[in-house]
This record gives sequence, C-alpha cells and structure tokens, in this order.
Amino acid sequence: MKNKFREKICFEYLKNCNFDKKLENFYKKKTILITGGAGAIGSNLAISLSKLVGKRGRIIVLDNLSAIRDEEPWNLPSLENMIFVKGDIRNDEDLKRVFKERPEIIFHLAAFLQIKIQ
Ligand SMILES: NC(=O)c1ccc[n+]([C@@H]2O[C@H](COP(=O)([O-])OP(=O)(O)OC[C@H]3O[C@@H](n4cnc5c(N)ncnc54)[C@H](O)[C@@H]3O)[C@@H](O)[C@H]2O)c1
Repeated sequence: MKNKFREKICFEYLKNCNFDKKLENFYKKKTILITGGAGAIGSNLAISLSKLVGKRGRIIVLDNLSAIRDEEPWNLPSLENMIFVKGDIRNDEDLKRVFKERPEIIFHLAAFLQIKIQ
C-alpha cells in the first residue's frame, strides 16, 4: 500500500516535470544500475527510472539492505522491469553479478550514513 502510494507520487512528479522528449528518449530501453537503490533516495529514483526506461528497459538495484533497521519494511516495490540483487558494492562477486546485466548508466547511491536524526 505504502509502495503503491510512492509509485503514484513518483509517476505524478515525473509527469509534472514535463521532460523534453529528447530526455525521455535517452532513458527509454536503457539498462540502469542503482547502487543503494533500496535507500531513501535510491528507491524513489528506481521507481521513477523504471517508468522512464519502460517495459523494454531494466533497473538493477544492488543494495546490502544494511540501512534497514529492526522491523522497518523494505523500501522497494516489486516492479516488472526491476531486478533486485542483495549484495555489497565491496564484494567482487556481487559486482560481477550486476555487471553481467550490462548496465549503460550507473547511479551510485550506496552509502553508510552515520548522521543520526534525533
Ligand atoms: N537523504 C538526503 O537528504 C540526502 C541529501 C543529499 C545527499 N544524500 C546522499 O545520497 C546518498 C544516499 O542517501 P540516502 O538518504 O538514500 O541513504 P540511505 O541510507 O537511505 O540509502 C543508502 C543505501 O545504501 C545501502 N548500502 C550501504 N552500504 C552498502 C554497501 N556496501 N553495498 C550496497 N549497498 C549499501 C543501504 O542499505 C541503503 O539502502 C548518500 O551518499 C547521501 O549522503 C542524501
């Protein structure tokens, strides 16, 4: 339910951005890797890009889920054109796994945040 709402917000935001056709065409059918794609920023980016790449594009999310605390639910909805790989950017095997998908664009958002919000 929460994820459906986020999808709606992301898709509406994209629509309101009224992107230039050139930009939309640039992303169409692309394979995009997002490290840290289950995080606060990465998950919204993944949802939005999944729309832009369309059915013939792919979003690959690599995330070790280290930011998930306690029972906090996982941030990412399951979308048709999205592949989630639970793995670590510091692990060669995990990197080989995602690079096998031949990403054309990479957004690197995996990060270990140490600032605690009170
Ligand atoms: N949230 C903000 O307001 C904000 C603002 C400006 C910049 N940023 C930057 O954007 C980036 C992402 O921020 P966020 O708020 O989405 O953080 P976040 O903690 O929500 O997301 C980071 C993600 O990276 C994953 N991760 C951590 N170490 C990993 C590893 N070794 N391998 C794979 N995945 C790993 C975590 O599990 C998490 O899902 C950070 O570099 C942050 O400094 C964030």
